[in-house]
Amino acid sequence: MYRSHHCGQLRTSHINEEVTLSGWVQKSRDKGFVIWVDLRDRYGITQLIFDAERTPEAMMTMAKSLGREFVIQVTGTVIERASKNPNLETGDIEILVSKLTVLNDAKVPPFTIEDQTDGGEELRMKYRYLDIRRNPVKDNLIFRHKVTQEVRSYLSSQEFIEVETPYLIKSTPEGARDFVVPSRMNEGQFYALPQSPQTFKQLLMVGGMDKYFQIVKCFRDEDLRADRQPEFTQIDCEMAFVDQEDILNIFEGLTRHLIKSVHGKDVDSFPRMTYDEAMETYGNDKPDIRFGMKFGDLNAVTQHKDFGVFNAAELVIGIAVPGGNSFTRKEIDGIINWLKRPQIGALGMIYSRCNDDGTYKSSVDKFYDQDDLGKWAEVTGAQAGDFVCVLSGPTDKVRAQLSALRMELAERLGLRNPKEFAPLWVTDFPLLEWDEDSKRFHAMHHPFTAPKPDQIALLDTDPGAVKANAYDLVLNGNEIGGGSIRIHDKATQALMFDHLGFTPEEAKEQFGFLMNAFEYGAPPHGGLAFGLDRLVAILGGQETIRDFIAFPKNNSGRDVMIDAPSPIDDTQLNELHLKVDLK
Ligand code: AMO
Repeated sequence: MYRSHHCGQLRTSHINEEVTLSGWVQKSRDKGFVIWVDLRDRYGITQLIFDAERTPEAMMTMAKSLGREFVIQVTGTVIERASKNPNLETGDIEILVSKLTVLNDAKVPPFTIEDQTDGGEELRMKYRYLDIRRNPVKDNLIFRHKVTQEVRSYLSSQEFIEVETPYLIKSTPEGARDFVVPSRMNEGQFYALPQSPQTFKQLLMVGGMDKYFQIVKCFRDEDLRADRQPEFTQIDCEMAFVDQEDILNIFEGLTRHLIKSVHGKDVDSFPRMTYDEAMETYGNDKPDIRFGMKFGDLNAVTQHKDFGVFNAAELVIGIAVPGGNSFTRKEIDGIINWLKRPQIGALGMIYSRCNDDGTYKSSVDKFYDQDDLGKWAEVTGAQAGDFVCVLSGPTDKVRAQLSALRMELAERLGLRNPKEFAPLWVTDFPLLEWDEDSKRFHAMHHPFTAPKPDQIALLDTDPGAVKANAYDLVLNGNEIGGGSIRIHDKATQALMFDHLGFTPEEAKEQFGFLMNAFEYGAPPHGGLAFGLDRLVAILGGQETIRDFIAFPKNNSGRDVMIDAPSPIDDTQLNELHLKVDLK
C-alpha cells in the first residue's frame, strides 16, 4: 500500500494516528536539528517533520538529501503543529516521520513548481507534465473535468444520446483548411480529419437518433490565436423535429445549468439580438454586453458642417467612454497611436470631452459648436465626465475599428469583470458572405444551413441579403457556440450547392451521401456546437484556451514537448505513396 491518506486530507482529528503518505517534495527547510519537508500530491500539501531528538540519524541524513520533486513515501504519526499555518487546509498538523522511502529521485526542475512560476510559456510547454503539477494548471484541468461531467449529465437528463462519429473522414467544407491523412491501402487517396462532425450528426438524425450529442475533437488547419487551437473540443449536438426556438431553449438551459453548478449563480436573462443589430450597435457579431458603450450613429449630427473628413465618410460613429474626461493628453495620444497600429488601421480619432459643468471641448472645435457637441453626447449617451470617441470611414472598416477600441478601453477601465456572466444569442445571420478572393459567395455558417423559408426567392435576386436560421451563443464577448436549422430536402440542398458555385457533379461527388440520405425520409432537424475549450476558459474567468488544455499546441501549431509535427522516414513515406523525387 503506497498510502493510507492523501496530502490534503489530514486534520487535528487524525492526531496520534499512524499514516502513510506518498507524493512529491515541494520544498524542504533544513534548520540543522529539524528538517521540515512539504509533501505534495494532487489534493494538497502536508508538512513532514524530522528532528534530531526523535528521528534516527540515518533518516536525518536521508531527509537532508531530498531534492525538490523527489517522489517519496513516508510513514509516521500525525502530531499537532507548534506553529500552525491557517493558509493550508492541513496547516494544524504535521507528520513525525518514522519511515522514509525514496520512490524516485528527480532532476532539478527547469522552473519552479509554484503558483507564480519563473518559467516562460515555451519552457512550461516543453515540460508540460511539470507545469501540470502547478496548482493553476491542475485546477484548470479539474475545472474542465467538472464542466464536462455537468454537460454529460445535463444532456443525458434531456434524453440526448452520446454517439461517436469517425475521425477518418472525407473533407467537410466549413471554412478552414483540412488536416489530411494519407491512406496506405488506397494509393494517392487521403482521409480528412473532421473540422466538425456536421454531416454525421445530420445522418444520425436521418437514422432516427432524435437527440444526439458528442464531446468530440475537431481539427482545423487555420491561423491560431488565444481562443483557437488546431485541435479543439466541441460539445456537438443535433435534434430532430425542432425549430430554432426549441434549440435556443435547450441550450439556454444547459448554459444556465453550467453557470449554476460551477459558480452557484443564476443567469437572469439570455437577451437576443439579430446579427444586423449587433453589427450596428457593437460593430461585432459577438458583442460583450457586460458594459455599455454602444455605438451612436453620428452621420446626421456631423455631416452638415465644413469638416471634410466626416462629410466624405460613409459612416461616422462614436462611443461614450464612462469617466473618460479624466484622460490626460498623453493618454489620448496613446489611444490614437493604438488605433493607428496596422492591426487596427484607423487614420485617427476625433474626440469630445464632456465637462462636469455641461460644456464640451472637442478636437474639432473649429467646425462644431456646443450645440453640435451636445448632440454627439446625446446620440452616444455620454454624461458629464465622459469622453466621446469618434471614428469615420467605410462602414465595415470603421465598425471593426470602433469595436476593437470599445473592447480595449473596457479592458483598460476594468469593465470586463470575469466573474460576471452575460450570455447573448445573436440570431438571423446572413446565409452567404461574399469572398473577395474567390469572387463568389461562401456559406457564412456551412452549406447545410437553411435559409429563412420566406427568403428563398431572394437567393436569385440578392443572395447577400438572405438571412438564415442560424445563431451564435456569445458569452462575455466570445463566441462559445453556433448552430442552425438545417436543410432537410434534396432540392433545397441542391439549390444551395448551386448558389455556392458547385456544379451538380461536384455536389454529387462531395456530398452525394447526404443528398442520397435526404431521399430516405430526413426529418426536419437542427443543432448547435459549443466550443468546450472556450466555454471552460470563460467560465473559469479567462480567455486563453491553452491554459485549459492538458497538452496544447503553440502559436505555430507545434507540440514542443513531443516535437510534432516532425519528418517521417523514407520507408514510411514510401508505404504511404508519398515519396516525391524533388530533383
Ligand atoms: P462552428 O464552426 O461555429 O460550428 O464551431 C462551433 C464552436 O466551436 C468553437 N471553435 C473553436 N474553438 C477552439 N479552436 C478553434 N479553432 C475553434 N473553431 C471553432 C467555437 C465555435 O462557436 N458544425 C458547426 C456547428 C453546428 O452547426 O451545429 C460548427 O462546427 O466556440
